[in-house]
Amino acid sequence: MLDQNQLKKYNQEHLSEYEKLMSSNEKEKLESRVNELNLESIQQLFQDLYVNRQSIFDVSSVSEVKYLRKTELTNQESAKYEQKGIEAIRNGEFAVLLMAGGQGTRLGYKGPKGSFEIKGVSLFELQARQLLKLKKETGHLINWYIMTSDINHEETLSYFEQHDYFGYKPDNVHFFKQENMVALSETGQLVLNEQGYIMETPNGNGGVFKSLEKNGYLDKMASDGVKFIFLNNIDNVLVKVLDPLFVGFTVVNDCDVTSKSIQPKDGESVGRLVNQNSKDTVLEYSELDEAVANTFDNANIGIHAFKVAFIKQAVNNDLPYHLAVKKLKQLDEDFGVVEKTTLKFELFYFDIFRYATSFVTLQVNREDEFSPLKNKEGKDSVETATSDLERLNLI
Ligand code: UD1
Repeated sequence: MLDQNQLKKYNQEHLSEYEKLMSSNEKEKLESRVNELNLESIQQLFQDLYVNRQSIFDVSSVSEVKYLRKTELTNQESAKYEQKGIEAIRNGEFAVLLMAGGQGTRLGYKGPKGSFEIKGVSLFELQARQLLKLKKETGHLINWYIMTSDINHEETLSYFEQHDYFGYKPDNVHFFKQENMVALSETGQLVLNEQGYIMETPNGNGGVFKSLEKNGYLDKMASDGVKFIFLNNIDNVLVKVLDPLFVGFTVVNDCDVTSKSIQPKDGESVGRLVNQNSKDTVLEYSELDEAVANTFDNANIGIHAFKVAFIKQAVNNDLPYHLAVKKLKQLDEDFGVVEKTTLKFELFYFDIFRYATSFVTLQVNREDEFSPLKNKEGKDSVETATSDLERLNLI
């Protein structure tokens, strides 16, 4: 049974109307899900992030992060970092964590983004090849943790199986799913997806550390002797996965958070890595005034190394949700399928930075390390990704 008082109190009375059109089986499913939800906190989120939303970040007390340009390193320094990096990889001090739970809506591709192929080579394969090369160089096969979500988990697994894990050892690839979060209408009401269930969508990439922990993988890393987690996005076709120079830079500086950045272009859709109140943080492009964004020197490219001890200690701390407004297919009150403006709530992985105490950033060249596949055409598209991969002889 749905608690009518609760529904009224939290603006969800429409669910009783929906129930009138449901079979007893459907009703049961709806009720058990709704009864599990914390309607009060969902309404609070709606009020805070939508009704009383603030359009842009408070950028007071923001300054540049502490960073070093890779171009400023002498050959000797680079060689020292690389050698330290190779040693750390050989000693099993690093695990690799790939975030691949996103939807890739802008690319307009139905499958998991990692299975998108450019000249027959998928984004997953581009990354697997680099880890296999490191195995050759160091003798150590790195544990590869891959976050998926309900929308692509099964397909991702089958893609790896169909391709024999690209030559990787299946025992060293650890898939885990991120969690979901309910979506709301513009009036703060729960909505039904096309299948008639309460609509839930992946909760953003910020769920990555909690999901890692929930699956026992933080403990596994600690017992394997892993000291740092290298994190990266799925869609940067030039990503250097666990490149020894960055690994050495991480080990030598020994900070909670080590980041790679590039010099952003004006108006570019990338977060800006900044320092605010003595903590590094990312101001996300979707929440930042463009003129303000253009004043910063470091773009977030989703490449970081986190100290395992720091993540273990911070993993259960709260992270804030961010609002994303999307047009999504759903059922209307007559159970017809319609596309409507919907509120999604997402966590961002970099919000965990606020619990860290030491940070350092290496700024690298865009031409060598950043070419994201985001769009079908134009900027950051299949065409630009293909030409960048060809330019560097990677395909
Ligand atoms: C992201 C960064 C942005 C950075 C840009 C560089 C975030 C919140 N923003 O933006 O600061 O400048 O990359 O390319 O990270 N993902 C999940 N689960 C989700 C959502 C996303 O695993 O629920 C994964 C995606 O598969 C992808 C990564 O997170 O690997 C980044 O997500 P995406 O939606 O592509 O973020 P951008 O808006 O491009």
